[in-house]
Amino acid sequence: VRVFRWLWRLTYLSVLGSIGYVVYDGYVARHPEDQFVPDPNKKTLVILGTGWGSVALLKKLDTENYNVVVISPRNYFLFTPLLPSCTTGQIEHRSIMEPVRQILRHKKAAVKYYEAEATQIDHARKVIKITDNSEIKGTITENEVPYDMLVIGVGAENATFGIPGVRDHSCFLKEIRDAQAIRTKIMDCVETAAFKDQATEEIDRLLHMVVVGGGPTGVEFAGELRDFFDDDIKKLIPDIADRFKVTLIEALPNVLPMFSKQLIDYTESTFKEEHIEIKTKTMVKKVTDKSVEAVITHPDGSKETVTIPYGLLVWATGNALRPIVKDLMSQIPAQKDSRRGLAVNEYMVVQGTRDIWAVGDCAVAGYAPTAQVASQEGAFLAGLFNNMAKTEALENKIRELSSNLNLKPGNTAEITQEIETVEKRLRRTRDVKPFHYSHQGSLAYIGSEKAVADVAWLNGNVASGGKLTYFFWRSAYLSMCFSTRNRVLVSLDWIKAKIYGRDVSRE
Ligand code: FAD
Ligand code: NAI
Repeated sequence: VRVFRWLWRLTYLSVLGSIGYVVYDGYVARHPEDQFVPDPNKKTLVILGTGWGSVALLKKLDTENYNVVVISPRNYFLFTPLLPSCTTGQIEHRSIMEPVRQILRHKKAAVKYYEAEATQIDHARKVIKITDNSEIKGTITENEVPYDMLVIGVGAENATFGIPGVRDHSCFLKEIRDAQAIRTKIMDCVETAAFKDQATEEIDRLLHMVVVGGGPTGVEFAGELRDFFDDDIKKLIPDIADRFKVTLIEALPNVLPMFSKQLIDYTESTFKEEHIEIKTKTMVKKVTDKSVEAVITHPDGSKETVTIPYGLLVWATGNALRPIVKDLMSQIPAQKDSRRGLAVNEYMVVQGTRDIWAVGDCAVAGYAPTAQVASQEGAFLAGLFNNMAKTEALENKIRELSSNLNLKPGNTAEITQEIETVEKRLRRTRDVKPFHYSHQGSLAYIGSEKAVADVAWLNGNVASGGKLTYFFWRSAYLSMCFSTRNRVLVSLDWIKAKIYGRDVSRE
């Protein structure tokens, strides 16, 4: 009884503590401290993008050291790891968005933000051309922003490899609008399949959800889709219960190539149990409005062309360069051999430039294009820039003390000692180590409340898959959400979906 009483007290206190923390966090979010405008004579640091790399940089940057300008067509940060859950309504999209204005308002010194797309970087003139591509236009829709220092964190586009029909007929899964479009389309397919006297063949086509690309995006989406159908659609529209089908098409011999063999096998067998068909060694060559054409390579090496009808097609075949990145690369001779993005050195400086840095999916630093890498690179740059500002301040201090040496000959010993102390600090500040990526592991949700994880542990790797890993996946992603507000909203969405089911209304 005593143990139970203590446990009860502990739970009570931790619930009370959490509520107190959430209330306090909300108060801080609503009552930011006054900001000051940085000295206009300081250098202008322009940051492109509001994704993982740029926001990690902004989070840690001492904005009082520069005139910081952020340019991005997206006025929010998106927590991409939970984006596949938004396609089915397991999580509502606003729960994983954090307004960039909110992030910037909490910096010590004011930061300018322009909701615009950077269309060109004029490397020679050190200016960026920007365009307002939003629906509502003012009298000025294009302008130029000069920079002293530039950070490019524009991410990547969806790769289509020029395959005909992909852009016209498939859905991508990169942005919020993609997830919303998929959610609407799933229900459109379902309701159309349930239409009075719909032909059997047409029902089968409409309820065939095809996912191209067996990377983590494709796998996580396929898992979420199957859950949605099994947990909700099947119960609400039992007439079509046996007809729903998910197929995952992958050109390579297996899905999730970045995971260990054991987890690849586990994912493939789980998909089998969930009735998700995996077609490996199958390369999609053409897409039409109702079917995909793919070439299957059989074990004996022979090839077969098949036509696969679909109702919904989701294209998740990885990343391609954004036009602005391609254009900049064409201006810099040192970038001519780089194919996958801006080649950077170990300090994230774009090779062939002195004042341009790149982070995340648009940079080639020898790491995979993941949020984990992008955020570590962004945080590294913040440290580097904070250090550069400190170095400059210390150099100015030495200059000032040296001139005092001439002006106040009586205090020579005292000033010399002070110069030595500042010089020591300067040496320490200048000693910046190059970027070092620390891999924490890979996680992916595979449906049926199961996840796979390759987690770095001591000097090795621990591979695990199943329900327990799913709880680990949930708690890891919850703790990684940008703000407490996001964490609260995501938790409430999970609870809501568990109790009431996902919302199947089609917007
Ligand atoms: P992004 O986060 O894509 O941000 C790019 C920013 O640049 C955006 O704000 C965009 O609006 C802006 N932008 C674009 N063009 C311009 C322009 N011309 N001018 C100015 N701004 C521009 N990684 C993981 O490590 N773990 C995961 O679980 C994980 N899950 C994922 C799930 C999905 C569905 C997807 C699509 C990706 C996932 N990733 C995950 C990968 C991860 O999201 C990316 O690696 C990461 O977003 C890259 O960060 P970034 O800052 O380079 O680009
Ligand atoms: P990806 O590049 O990881 O995988 C794309 C897959 O599509 C490849 O396996 C490729 O062989 C296949 N493909 C390409 N063309 C094809 C075709 N014509 N027909 C059939 N298959 C084809 O892309 P993804 O999944 O979009 O991920 C992009 C990045 O984001 C990766 O670095 C990934 O690690 C990261 N990410 C990480 C997640 C996680 O850690 N949970 C979740 C989602 C993305």
